[in-house]
Amino acid sequence: ERDLCLTIVVAGASGDLASKKTYPALQFLHHNGFLPRKVAIIGYARTQMSDEQLRTKLRPRLKGSEKEVDKFLEGCTYVSGSYDGSEGWQKLAAVLEAREAKHRGCPCGRLYYLALPPSVYPQVCTGLKTYCDGLPSVEGSWIRVVVEKPFGLDLQSSEELAEELGKLYPESQLYRIDHYLGKEMVQNLFVIRFANMFTAPLWNRNCISNVQITFKEDFGTQGRGGYFDSFGIVRDVIQNHLIQLLAMLAMEKPLSIHPDDLRDEKVKVLRCIKPVQPHNVVLGQYTAADAQPGYTDDPTVPAGSKTPTFASVTVFIDNDRWAGVPFVLKAGKALNERKAEIRVQLRSTPHFVFNGEPEAMRNELVVRLQPDEAIYLKLIVKKPGLEIDTAISELDLDYRQRYPGVVIPDAYPRLILDSIRGDQQHFVRRDELRAAWAICTPILHLIDAGALPVHPYPYGSRGPPEADELLARAGFVKNSRYDWHEAGAA
Ligand code: BG6
Repeated sequence: ERDLCLTIVVAGASGDLASKKTYPALQFLHHNGFLPRKVAIIGYARTQMSDEQLRTKLRPRLKGSEKEVDKFLEGCTYVSGSYDGSEGWQKLAAVLEAREAKHRGCPCGRLYYLALPPSVYPQVCTGLKTYCDGLPSVEGSWIRVVVEKPFGLDLQSSEELAEELGKLYPESQLYRIDHYLGKEMVQNLFVIRFANMFTAPLWNRNCISNVQITFKEDFGTQGRGGYFDSFGIVRDVIQNHLIQLLAMLAMEKPLSIHPDDLRDEKVKVLRCIKPVQPHNVVLGQYTAADAQPGYTDDPTVPAGSKTPTFASVTVFIDNDRWAGVPFVLKAGKALNERKAEIRVQLRSTPHFVFNGEPEAMRNELVVRLQPDEAIYLKLIVKKPGLEIDTAISELDLDYRQRYPGVVIPDAYPRLILDSIRGDQQHFVRRDELRAAWAICTPILHLIDAGALPVHPYPYGSRGPPEADELLARAGFVKNSRYDWHEAGAA
Protein backbone atom coordinates (compact mmCIF):
# COMPACT_ATOMS: atom_id res chain seq x y z
CA GLU A 1 0.00 0.00 0.00
CA ARG A 2 2.89 2.30 0.77
CA ASP A 3 4.11 2.84 -2.76
CA LEU A 4 0.67 3.08 -4.31
CA CYS A 5 0.21 6.22 -6.36
CA LEU A 6 -3.31 7.14 -5.34
CA THR A 7 -5.48 9.76 -6.98
CA ILE A 8 -8.84 10.51 -5.49
CA VAL A 9 -11.23 12.34 -7.78
CA VAL A 10 -14.09 14.02 -5.94
CA ALA A 11 -16.74 14.59 -8.59
CA GLY A 12 -19.12 17.26 -7.36
CA ALA A 13 -16.32 18.92 -5.38
CA SER A 14 -18.06 22.30 -5.32
CA GLY A 15 -21.19 20.84 -3.67
CA ASP A 16 -22.41 20.47 -0.15
CA LEU A 17 -21.80 16.77 0.36
CA ALA A 18 -18.18 17.13 -0.74
CA SER A 19 -17.36 19.94 1.65
CA LYS A 20 -19.41 18.54 4.55
CA LYS A 21 -18.47 14.87 4.35
CA THR A 22 -15.99 13.85 1.68
CA TYR A 23 -13.15 16.32 2.20
CA PRO A 24 -13.31 16.26 6.03
CA ALA A 25 -13.20 12.46 5.91
CA LEU A 26 -10.20 12.56 3.59
CA GLN A 27 -8.50 15.03 5.86
CA PHE A 28 -9.10 12.76 8.86
CA LEU A 29 -7.41 9.91 7.00
CA HIS A 30 -4.58 12.17 5.88
CA HIS A 31 -4.02 13.53 9.34
CA ASN A 32 -3.93 10.07 10.88
CA GLY A 33 -1.50 8.72 8.33
CA PHE A 34 -3.93 6.41 6.54
CA LEU A 35 -3.40 7.78 3.05
CA PRO A 36 -0.41 6.64 1.02
CA ARG A 37 2.47 9.08 0.70
CA LYS A 38 1.83 9.51 -3.00
CA VAL A 39 -1.69 10.82 -2.84
CA ALA A 40 -3.44 13.62 -4.68
CA ILE A 41 -7.04 14.73 -4.41
CA ILE A 42 -8.56 16.27 -7.49
CA GLY A 43 -11.91 18.01 -7.26
CA TYR A 44 -14.07 18.01 -10.35
CA ALA A 45 -17.26 19.97 -10.92
CA ARG A 46 -18.94 22.38 -13.30
CA THR A 47 -18.25 25.54 -11.29
CA GLN A 48 -15.32 27.57 -12.57
CA MET A 49 -12.88 27.76 -9.69
CA SER A 50 -9.16 27.91 -9.08
CA ASP A 51 -7.35 25.48 -6.77
CA GLU A 52 -7.05 28.35 -4.30
CA GLN A 53 -10.77 29.09 -4.42
CA LEU A 54 -11.57 25.45 -3.69
CA ARG A 55 -9.17 25.50 -0.73
CA THR A 56 -10.75 28.67 0.64
CA LYS A 57 -14.15 27.03 0.39
CA LEU A 58 -13.00 23.87 2.17
CA ARG A 59 -10.87 25.44 4.90
CA PRO A 60 -13.67 26.28 7.39
CA ARG A 61 -14.87 22.66 7.25
CA LEU A 62 -11.53 21.14 8.20
CA LYS A 63 -10.24 20.46 11.68
CA GLY A 64 -6.80 20.85 13.21
CA SER A 65 -4.05 23.42 13.26
CA GLU A 66 -3.58 25.81 10.37
CA LYS A 67 -0.39 24.02 9.45
CA GLU A 68 -2.07 20.65 9.25
CA VAL A 69 -4.96 22.01 7.24
CA ASP A 70 -2.59 23.75 4.83
CA LYS A 71 -0.60 20.57 4.41
CA PHE A 72 -3.73 18.65 3.48
CA LEU A 73 -5.01 21.36 1.16
CA GLU A 74 -1.69 21.50 -0.69
CA GLY A 75 -2.61 18.11 -2.10
CA CYS A 76 -6.07 19.26 -3.22
CA THR A 77 -6.44 20.65 -6.70
CA TYR A 78 -9.38 21.32 -8.95
CA VAL A 79 -10.47 20.75 -12.53
CA SER A 80 -13.69 22.24 -13.84
CA GLY A 81 -15.72 20.58 -16.53
CA SER A 82 -19.23 19.51 -17.39
CA TYR A 83 -20.69 16.11 -16.58
CA ASP A 84 -21.75 15.40 -20.16
CA GLY A 85 -19.62 15.91 -23.23
CA SER A 86 -15.97 15.08 -23.47
CA GLU A 87 -13.91 18.19 -22.90
CA GLY A 88 -13.88 18.23 -19.11
CA TRP A 89 -13.23 14.52 -18.81
CA GLN A 90 -10.37 14.74 -21.29
CA LYS A 91 -8.86 17.54 -19.23
CA LEU A 92 -9.18 15.38 -16.12
CA ALA A 93 -7.67 12.38 -17.90
CA ALA A 94 -4.67 14.47 -18.91
CA VAL A 95 -4.11 15.51 -15.29
CA LEU A 96 -4.40 11.92 -14.08
CA GLU A 97 -2.05 10.58 -16.70
CA ALA A 98 0.55 13.29 -16.17
CA ARG A 99 0.59 12.52 -12.48
CA GLU A 100 0.86 8.78 -12.98
CA ALA A 101 3.62 9.26 -15.55
CA LYS A 102 5.68 10.93 -12.82
CA HIS A 103 5.42 7.75 -10.77
CA ARG A 104 6.21 5.34 -13.56
CA GLY A 105 6.48 1.76 -12.38
CA CYS A 106 4.28 2.28 -9.32
CA PRO A 107 0.88 0.66 -9.05
CA CYS A 108 -1.77 3.34 -9.48
CA GLY A 109 -5.09 3.58 -7.74
CA ARG A 110 -7.86 5.87 -8.86
CA LEU A 111 -10.80 6.39 -6.58
CA TYR A 112 -13.68 8.13 -8.29
CA TYR A 113 -15.88 9.47 -5.52
CA LEU A 114 -19.26 10.69 -6.76
CA ALA A 115 -20.43 13.38 -4.36
CA LEU A 116 -23.33 14.02 -6.70
CA PRO A 117 -27.03 13.33 -7.06
CA PRO A 118 -27.70 9.93 -8.63
CA SER A 119 -29.50 11.55 -11.56
CA VAL A 120 -26.08 12.37 -13.02
CA TYR A 121 -24.39 9.04 -12.16
CA PRO A 122 -24.95 7.59 -15.62
CA GLN A 123 -23.48 10.66 -17.36
CA VAL A 124 -20.58 10.92 -14.98
CA CYS A 125 -19.76 7.23 -15.10
CA THR A 126 -19.97 7.28 -18.88
CA GLY A 127 -17.51 10.21 -18.97
CA LEU A 128 -15.15 8.52 -16.53
CA LYS A 129 -15.32 5.19 -18.28
CA THR A 130 -14.84 6.66 -21.74
CA TYR A 131 -12.06 9.12 -21.01
CA CYS A 132 -10.52 8.27 -17.68
CA ASP A 133 -10.13 4.52 -17.82
CA GLY A 134 -6.54 4.33 -19.03
CA LEU A 135 -4.49 2.95 -16.19
CA PRO A 136 -0.76 2.26 -16.52
CA SER A 137 -0.24 -1.46 -16.94
CA VAL A 138 1.42 -2.03 -13.58
CA GLU A 139 0.22 -4.90 -11.46
CA GLY A 140 -1.87 -3.80 -8.51
CA SER A 141 -3.37 -0.82 -10.32
CA TRP A 142 -7.08 -0.25 -9.98
CA ILE A 143 -10.05 2.04 -10.55
CA ARG A 144 -12.96 2.12 -8.10
CA VAL A 145 -16.15 4.15 -8.15
CA VAL A 146 -17.88 5.22 -4.94
CA VAL A 147 -21.58 6.12 -5.06
CA GLU A 148 -24.24 6.78 -2.47
CA LYS A 149 -28.02 6.67 -2.22
CA PRO A 150 -30.67 7.49 -3.22
CA PHE A 151 -30.44 4.59 -5.64
CA GLY A 152 -33.73 5.10 -7.43
CA LEU A 153 -37.21 5.48 -6.00
CA ASP A 154 -38.32 1.88 -6.03
CA LEU A 155 -37.25 -1.56 -7.12
CA GLN A 156 -37.67 -0.84 -10.79
CA SER A 157 -35.92 2.52 -10.96
CA SER A 158 -33.13 1.24 -8.75
CA GLU A 159 -32.64 -1.73 -11.05
CA GLU A 160 -32.57 0.57 -14.06
CA LEU A 161 -29.85 2.65 -12.49
CA ALA A 162 -27.93 -0.47 -11.46
CA GLU A 163 -28.24 -1.78 -14.99
CA GLU A 164 -26.82 1.41 -16.49
CA LEU A 165 -23.90 1.54 -14.09
CA GLY A 166 -23.36 -2.19 -14.40
CA LYS A 167 -22.76 -1.81 -18.13
CA LEU A 168 -19.89 0.54 -17.35
CA TYR A 169 -18.36 -0.92 -14.21
CA PRO A 170 -18.48 -4.45 -12.86
CA GLU A 171 -19.69 -4.99 -9.31
CA SER A 172 -16.09 -5.40 -8.11
CA GLN A 173 -15.36 -1.79 -9.01
CA LEU A 174 -18.55 -0.29 -7.59
CA TYR A 175 -18.66 0.76 -3.96
CA ARG A 176 -22.20 1.64 -2.86
CA ILE A 177 -22.13 3.50 0.43
CA ASP A 178 -24.69 3.02 3.15
CA HIS A 179 -22.97 5.09 5.78
CA TYR A 180 -24.64 3.13 8.61
CA LEU A 181 -22.38 0.24 7.69
CA GLY A 182 -19.43 2.44 8.57
CA LYS A 183 -20.60 3.05 12.13
CA GLU A 184 -18.63 1.49 14.97
CA MET A 185 -21.58 -0.25 16.62
CA VAL A 186 -22.95 -1.57 13.35
CA GLN A 187 -19.65 -3.25 12.60
CA ASN A 188 -19.65 -4.37 16.21
CA LEU A 189 -22.91 -6.27 15.71
CA PHE A 190 -21.06 -8.77 13.61
CA VAL A 191 -18.51 -9.38 16.36
CA ILE A 192 -21.01 -9.43 19.21
CA ARG A 193 -23.11 -12.00 17.45
CA PHE A 194 -20.46 -14.32 16.13
CA ALA A 195 -17.56 -14.06 18.54
CA ASN A 196 -19.52 -14.79 21.72
CA MET A 197 -20.83 -18.08 22.90
CA PHE A 198 -23.61 -16.61 25.01
CA THR A 199 -25.44 -14.90 22.16
CA ALA A 200 -25.55 -17.86 19.79
CA PRO A 201 -28.09 -20.13 21.57
CA LEU A 202 -30.39 -17.20 22.40
CA TRP A 203 -30.52 -15.67 18.98
CA ASN A 204 -33.72 -17.13 17.62
CA ARG A 205 -37.49 -17.38 17.92
CA ASN A 206 -37.32 -19.64 20.95
CA CYS A 207 -35.84 -16.94 23.15
CA ILE A 208 -36.51 -13.66 21.40
CA SER A 209 -39.96 -12.14 21.53
CA ASN A 210 -39.47 -9.07 19.35
CA VAL A 211 -36.80 -6.75 18.00
CA GLN A 212 -36.90 -3.00 17.59
CA ILE A 213 -34.61 -1.02 15.35
CA THR A 214 -35.09 2.65 16.04
CA PHE A 215 -33.82 5.83 14.42
CA LYS A 216 -34.89 9.15 15.92
CA GLU A 217 -33.81 12.66 15.10
CA ASP A 218 -34.67 15.73 17.12
CA PHE A 219 -34.65 18.06 14.13
CA GLY A 220 -36.77 18.41 11.02
CA THR A 221 -35.81 18.75 7.39
CA GLN A 222 -34.02 22.06 7.97
CA GLY A 223 -34.14 23.34 4.42
CA ARG A 224 -33.50 19.85 2.98
CA GLY A 225 -37.25 19.55 2.42
CA GLY A 226 -36.92 19.83 -1.33
CA TYR A 227 -34.87 16.65 -1.45
CA PHE A 228 -36.75 14.93 1.32
CA ASP A 229 -40.21 15.50 -0.06
CA SER A 230 -39.73 13.33 -3.12
CA PHE A 231 -38.38 10.50 -0.95
CA GLY A 232 -39.95 10.43 2.49
CA ILE A 233 -38.67 8.68 5.58
CA VAL A 234 -39.07 5.12 4.27
CA ARG A 235 -36.73 5.75 1.35
CA ASP A 236 -34.49 8.10 3.31
CA VAL A 237 -33.77 5.86 6.29
CA ILE A 238 -35.72 2.59 6.45
CA GLN A 239 -35.10 1.04 3.03
CA ASN A 240 -31.37 1.49 3.44
CA HIS A 241 -29.99 2.14 6.94
CA LEU A 242 -32.53 0.22 9.03
CA ILE A 243 -32.81 -2.70 6.66
CA GLN A 244 -29.03 -3.00 6.67
CA LEU A 245 -29.12 -3.15 10.47
CA LEU A 246 -31.83 -5.76 10.27
CA ALA A 247 -29.72 -7.87 7.94
CA MET A 248 -26.70 -7.63 10.24
CA LEU A 249 -28.84 -8.63 13.21
CA ALA A 250 -30.69 -11.49 11.64
CA MET A 251 -28.31 -13.11 9.15
CA GLU A 252 -26.71 -16.50 9.63
CA LYS A 253 -23.02 -16.77 10.40
CA PRO A 254 -21.10 -16.37 7.14
CA LEU A 255 -18.58 -18.91 5.97
CA SER A 256 -15.79 -16.38 6.55
CA ILE A 257 -15.32 -12.65 6.83
CA HIS A 258 -14.70 -12.45 3.12
CA PRO A 259 -16.92 -9.60 1.84
CA ASP A 260 -18.89 -11.84 -0.47
CA ASP A 261 -19.49 -14.50 2.15
CA LEU A 262 -20.89 -11.86 4.44
CA ARG A 263 -23.01 -10.26 1.77
CA ASP A 264 -24.30 -13.62 0.61
CA GLU A 265 -25.77 -14.12 4.08
CA LYS A 266 -27.28 -10.66 4.16
CA VAL A 267 -29.00 -11.20 0.84
CA LYS A 268 -30.25 -14.58 1.97
CA VAL A 269 -31.95 -13.24 5.07
CA LEU A 270 -33.39 -10.22 3.26
CA ARG A 271 -34.92 -12.50 0.70
CA CYS A 272 -36.80 -14.28 3.51
CA ILE A 273 -38.70 -11.09 4.28
CA LYS A 274 -42.06 -10.60 2.62
CA PRO A 275 -42.97 -7.09 1.43
CA VAL A 276 -44.31 -4.84 4.19
CA GLN A 277 -48.06 -5.22 4.66
CA PRO A 278 -50.22 -2.08 4.94
CA HIS A 279 -51.66 -3.14 8.32
CA ASN A 280 -48.11 -3.27 9.70
CA VAL A 281 -47.35 0.37 8.98
CA VAL A 282 -47.92 3.59 10.87
CA LEU A 283 -46.99 6.84 9.14
CA GLY A 284 -46.69 10.33 10.54
CA GLN A 285 -45.81 13.88 9.62
CA TYR A 286 -44.68 16.50 12.10
CA THR A 287 -46.60 19.66 12.73
CA ALA A 288 -45.57 22.98 14.24
CA ALA A 289 -45.14 23.02 18.02
CA ASP A 290 -43.28 25.13 20.58
CA ALA A 291 -42.19 27.70 18.01
CA GLN A 292 -40.75 24.94 15.83
CA PRO A 293 -42.06 24.81 12.25
CA GLY A 294 -44.13 21.94 10.92
CA TYR A 295 -42.93 19.92 7.96
CA THR A 296 -45.10 21.77 5.44
CA ASP A 297 -43.94 25.13 6.85
CA ASP A 298 -40.55 24.40 5.29
CA PRO A 299 -40.56 26.69 2.22
CA THR A 300 -38.87 23.98 0.16
CA VAL A 301 -41.73 21.54 0.84
CA PRO A 302 -44.75 21.72 -1.50
CA ALA A 303 -47.91 22.94 0.24
CA GLY A 304 -50.19 20.15 1.40
CA SER A 305 -47.50 17.49 1.06
CA LYS A 306 -48.43 14.11 2.54
CA THR A 307 -44.87 12.82 2.61
CA PRO A 308 -44.24 10.87 5.82
CA THR A 309 -41.49 12.13 8.11
CA PHE A 310 -42.16 9.24 10.49
CA ALA A 311 -42.77 5.58 9.83
CA SER A 312 -42.94 2.48 11.93
CA VAL A 313 -43.15 -0.83 10.10
CA THR A 314 -43.21 -4.39 11.31
CA VAL A 315 -41.60 -7.07 9.19
CA PHE A 316 -41.23 -10.82 9.60
CA ILE A 317 -38.47 -13.12 8.48
CA ASP A 318 -39.78 -16.39 7.16
CA ASN A 319 -37.04 -18.79 8.08
CA ASP A 320 -36.40 -21.38 10.77
CA ARG A 321 -34.59 -18.99 13.04
CA TRP A 322 -37.06 -16.11 13.01
CA ALA A 323 -40.52 -17.23 11.92
CA GLY A 324 -43.11 -15.24 13.84
CA VAL A 325 -40.72 -12.80 15.50
CA PRO A 326 -41.75 -9.21 14.73
CA PHE A 327 -38.98 -6.78 13.79
CA VAL A 328 -40.23 -3.25 14.25
CA LEU A 329 -38.35 -0.65 12.22
CA LYS A 330 -39.07 2.88 13.34
CA ALA A 331 -37.66 6.12 11.94
CA GLY A 332 -38.69 9.68 12.47
CA LYS A 333 -37.63 13.27 12.17
CA ALA A 334 -38.47 16.10 14.58
CA LEU A 335 -38.96 13.76 17.53
CA ASN A 336 -38.14 14.19 21.20
CA GLU A 337 -34.53 12.99 20.99
CA ARG A 338 -31.69 11.95 18.72
CA LYS A 339 -31.02 8.27 19.10
CA ALA A 340 -30.35 5.15 17.08
CA GLU A 341 -30.60 1.82 18.84
CA ILE A 342 -31.41 -1.83 18.54
CA ARG A 343 -33.49 -3.44 21.24
CA VAL A 344 -33.79 -7.20 21.40
CA GLN A 345 -36.49 -8.21 23.84
CA LEU A 346 -36.42 -11.78 25.10
CA ARG A 347 -39.44 -13.80 26.06
CA SER A 348 -40.74 -13.86 29.61
CA THR A 349 -39.26 -16.45 31.93
CA PRO A 350 -41.59 -19.45 32.23
CA HIS A 351 -42.60 -20.72 35.68
CA PHE A 352 -41.54 -17.54 37.45
CA VAL A 353 -41.23 -18.51 41.11
CA PHE A 354 -40.55 -15.00 42.42
CA ASN A 355 -42.82 -12.18 43.38
CA GLY A 356 -44.00 -9.91 40.64
CA GLU A 357 -45.14 -10.13 37.09
CA PRO A 358 -42.70 -12.05 34.88
CA GLU A 359 -44.29 -10.39 31.86
CA ALA A 360 -43.02 -7.02 32.99
CA MET A 361 -39.52 -8.34 33.69
CA ARG A 362 -38.01 -9.36 30.44
CA ASN A 363 -34.36 -9.43 29.52
CA GLU A 364 -33.46 -6.92 26.87
CA LEU A 365 -30.24 -6.48 25.00
CA VAL A 366 -29.79 -2.91 23.80
CA VAL A 367 -27.14 -1.77 21.37
CA ARG A 368 -27.00 2.00 21.14
CA LEU A 369 -25.38 3.25 17.96
CA GLN A 370 -25.62 6.93 18.80
CA PRO A 371 -25.21 9.15 20.64
CA ASP A 372 -22.74 7.61 23.09
CA GLU A 373 -22.14 4.08 21.93
CA ALA A 374 -23.22 1.51 24.49
CA ILE A 375 -24.36 -2.05 24.94
CA TYR A 376 -26.44 -3.03 27.92
CA LEU A 377 -28.40 -6.03 29.00
CA LYS A 378 -31.36 -5.70 31.29
CA LEU A 379 -30.90 -8.38 33.85
CA ILE A 380 -33.17 -9.58 36.63
CA VAL A 381 -31.26 -9.68 39.90
CA LYS A 382 -32.01 -10.10 43.54
CA LYS A 383 -33.01 -6.79 44.98
CA PRO A 384 -30.21 -6.01 47.45
CA GLY A 385 -31.43 -6.51 50.99
CA LEU A 386 -32.69 -9.09 53.42
CA GLU A 387 -35.66 -10.24 51.39
CA ILE A 388 -35.64 -12.39 48.30
CA ASP A 389 -37.14 -9.96 45.89
CA THR A 390 -36.34 -9.18 42.29
CA ALA A 391 -35.23 -6.05 40.51
CA ILE A 392 -34.29 -5.16 36.96
CA SER A 393 -30.73 -3.99 36.71
CA GLU A 394 -28.26 -3.83 33.87
CA LEU A 395 -24.96 -5.15 32.65
CA ASP A 396 -23.71 -2.00 31.09
CA LEU A 397 -20.90 -1.38 28.64
CA ASP A 398 -20.59 2.30 28.04
CA TYR A 399 -17.90 3.01 25.47
CA ARG A 400 -16.86 6.38 26.86
CA GLN A 401 -16.27 4.85 30.29
CA ARG A 402 -14.70 1.63 29.15
CA TYR A 403 -12.51 3.17 26.44
CA PRO A 404 -11.79 6.66 27.75
CA GLY A 405 -9.97 8.88 25.29
CA VAL A 406 -10.45 6.49 22.40
CA VAL A 407 -11.68 8.36 19.35
CA ILE A 408 -14.37 6.42 17.54
CA PRO A 409 -13.99 7.34 13.89
CA ASP A 410 -16.95 8.49 11.83
CA ALA A 411 -18.45 6.35 9.16
CA TYR A 412 -17.09 8.20 6.13
CA PRO A 413 -13.34 7.97 6.81
CA ARG A 414 -13.75 4.29 7.57
CA LEU A 415 -15.65 3.59 4.37
CA ILE A 416 -13.30 5.64 2.22
CA LEU A 417 -10.36 3.77 3.72
CA ASP A 418 -12.07 0.47 2.93
CA SER A 419 -12.58 1.56 -0.65
CA ILE A 420 -8.89 2.46 -0.95
CA ARG A 421 -7.98 -0.93 0.48
CA GLY A 422 -10.41 -2.69 -1.82
CA ASP A 423 -12.55 -4.13 0.96
CA GLN A 424 -16.20 -4.30 -0.07
CA GLN A 425 -17.46 -5.87 3.14
CA HIS A 426 -19.23 -2.72 4.30
CA PHE A 427 -20.65 -1.75 0.92
CA VAL A 428 -24.00 -2.72 -0.49
CA ARG A 429 -23.97 -5.29 -3.27
CA ARG A 430 -26.46 -5.02 -6.09
CA ASP A 431 -28.49 -8.05 -5.04
CA GLU A 432 -28.70 -6.75 -1.47
CA LEU A 433 -30.02 -3.46 -2.76
CA ARG A 434 -32.57 -5.30 -4.85
CA ALA A 435 -33.73 -7.39 -1.89
CA ALA A 436 -34.08 -4.29 0.29
CA TRP A 437 -36.16 -2.54 -2.35
CA ALA A 438 -38.34 -5.60 -2.81
CA ILE A 439 -39.35 -5.38 0.86
CA CYS A 440 -40.33 -1.71 0.67
CA THR A 441 -41.55 -1.13 -2.87
CA PRO A 442 -45.21 -2.21 -2.62
CA ILE A 443 -45.79 -0.13 0.49
CA LEU A 444 -43.99 2.83 -1.07
CA HIS A 445 -46.33 2.70 -4.02
CA LEU A 446 -49.30 2.79 -1.66
CA ILE A 447 -47.77 5.71 0.26
CA ASP A 448 -47.10 7.60 -2.97
CA ALA A 449 -50.69 7.04 -4.03
CA GLY A 450 -51.89 8.55 -0.75
CA ALA A 451 -53.60 5.28 0.16
CA LEU A 452 -52.35 5.17 3.76
CA PRO A 453 -53.20 7.57 6.59
CA VAL A 454 -50.44 9.94 7.66
CA HIS A 455 -50.90 10.87 11.32
CA PRO A 456 -49.85 14.33 12.45
CA TYR A 457 -47.52 14.55 15.45
CA PRO A 458 -46.16 17.64 17.14
CA TYR A 459 -42.53 18.61 16.55
CA GLY A 460 -40.50 17.31 19.50
CA SER A 461 -42.96 14.59 20.50
CA ARG A 462 -42.54 10.79 20.52
CA GLY A 463 -44.35 10.48 17.21
CA PRO A 464 -47.92 9.36 16.59
CA PRO A 465 -49.40 7.23 19.42
CA GLU A 466 -50.56 4.73 16.79
CA ALA A 467 -46.92 3.62 16.60
CA ASP A 468 -47.03 2.50 20.22
CA GLU A 469 -50.06 0.40 19.41
CA LEU A 470 -48.17 -1.20 16.54
CA LEU A 471 -45.33 -1.98 18.91
CA ALA A 472 -47.69 -3.48 21.49
CA ARG A 473 -49.16 -5.68 18.77
CA ALA A 474 -45.63 -6.84 18.02
CA GLY A 475 -45.56 -8.17 21.57
CA PHE A 476 -43.25 -5.61 23.07
CA VAL A 477 -43.73 -5.26 26.81
CA LYS A 478 -42.41 -2.26 28.64
CA ASN A 479 -40.39 -3.31 31.65
CA SER A 480 -42.56 -1.36 34.04
CA ARG A 481 -40.35 -1.92 37.06
CA TYR A 482 -37.23 -0.67 35.34
CA ASP A 483 -35.53 2.66 36.11
CA TRP A 484 -32.52 3.56 34.08
CA HIS A 485 -29.64 4.24 36.43
CA GLU A 486 -27.35 6.84 34.91
CA ALA A 487 -23.77 5.53 35.17
CA GLY A 488 -21.84 7.39 37.82
CA ALA A 489 -24.97 8.93 39.32
CA ALA A 490 -25.37 8.77 43.09
C1 BG6 B 1 -29.02 10.17 5.85
C2 BG6 B 1 -30.41 10.69 5.67
O1 BG6 B 1 -28.82 9.06 5.02
O2 BG6 B 1 -28.84 9.78 7.20
C3 BG6 B 1 -30.66 11.85 6.60
O3 BG6 B 1 -30.57 11.12 4.32
C4 BG6 B 1 -30.33 11.47 8.01
O4 BG6 B 1 -31.99 12.30 6.49
C5 BG6 B 1 -28.94 10.85 8.10
O5 BG6 B 1 -30.37 12.65 8.79
C6 BG6 B 1 -28.66 10.32 9.49
O6 BG6 B 1 -27.32 9.95 9.60
P1 BG6 B 1 -26.61 9.93 11.02
O7 BG6 B 1 -25.28 9.33 10.75
O8 BG6 B 1 -26.54 11.35 11.47
O9 BG6 B 1 -27.46 9.10 11.90
